[in-house]
Amino acid sequence: MEQKILEIKETALKEIEKTYDLKSLEEVKNKYLSRASELNNLKKGLKDVPPEQRPKIGALVNQVSKEIETLTNQKQEEFYTAELNKKLESEKIDITLPSTFEPVGHVHPLTKTINEIVEIFELLGFSLIENQYSPEVETVKYNFDLLNTPKEHPARDVQDTFYSKLGENVVLRSQTSNAQVRQMQNSRPPIKIVSPGRVYRSESVSARKNNLFHQIEGLYVDKNVTFSDLKGVLNEFIRLYFGSYRPTRFRNSFFPFTEPSAEIDVQCIMCEGKGCPTCSGTGWLEILGAGMVDPNVLKAVDIDPEVYSGFAFGMGVERLTMLKYAIDDIRLFFNDDIRFLNQF
Ligand code: DAH
Repeated sequence: MEQKILEIKETALKEIEKTYDLKSLEEVKNKYLSRASELNNLKKGLKDVPPEQRPKIGALVNQVSKEIETLTNQKQEEFYTAELNKKLESEKIDITLPSTFEPVGHVHPLTKTINEIVEIFELLGFSLIENQYSPEVETVKYNFDLLNTPKEHPARDVQDTFYSKLGENVVLRSQTSNAQVRQMQNSRPPIKIVSPGRVYRSESVSARKNNLFHQIEGLYVDKNVTFSDLKGVLNEFIRLYFGSYRPTRFRNSFFPFTEPSAEIDVQCIMCEGKGCPTCSGTGWLEILGAGMVDPNVLKAVDIDPEVYSGFAFGMGVERLTMLKYAIDDIRLFFNDDIRFLNQF
């Protein structure tokens, strides 16, 4: 019996030595240490061993099981560490590699200004009207005629306005004021809207002027709309847009579609009114045109000027953005220089 046990021990130790991974080790371990193993059967058979030999044989069986167990545990530990190391090696992260981080874009500064201005007018009760009523490719009728613009008005000149090859009645709109007329044709007062968009002018490009720029048009038509409403709304807009009170000046002016008309100046942001190159020494900057809607414009869209009145305004988005952020060249908005755009 003793002999048998020592044989088992010997083959077991050999087999354990030959294992090469956790799985093969597990098999050997089962073979020698499970309930059904030979050693276990020997333990069960101890009762048939003569009593005087029992303690010795018993101790030997236990000792051999222990040895096998110790060795398999040790092997198991080795395999486990080896497999883990292999895995870590294959999944190693090289922290010196360049990252795949993509910079996140943001809205263009002009879009930002448009959004801000529209939000302010929404606070003041105006609704946003988009492209539907203000096409960029427009007819002369909507860009000029229905806006009470005389046939001989210089703005109609090819020097100022881009005419389409499609015909002399088609232009790239030179102002967002077409949105006023289309809105009034398609709805009835009260009308209280703002409409931002692109406009085009035939100009030579410089730091101050571009062929393409953006305007925001506003229109409020209802019963009893007065010039003091116009002043109240535009002063409040200026206060909210520039973030604090700024002196303003309403200057007498002329537009074919408003009577009376005004140009509105704010005190120069750069010099606080002292006079500097930005304001050409005047201390004031013009930021928008406005006025009471001319009765002829109302009549042309079948709104009775005896019952209704209104005010309108138009402002340049580039100009307002340049003033807010002290930008000195309008072309910066259009040449996609990421160093410029990233600042907003
Ligand atoms: N359309 C004018 C321009 O482009 C700006 C303007 C002035 C719009 C007075 C208006 C207004 O609605 O009432 O210069």
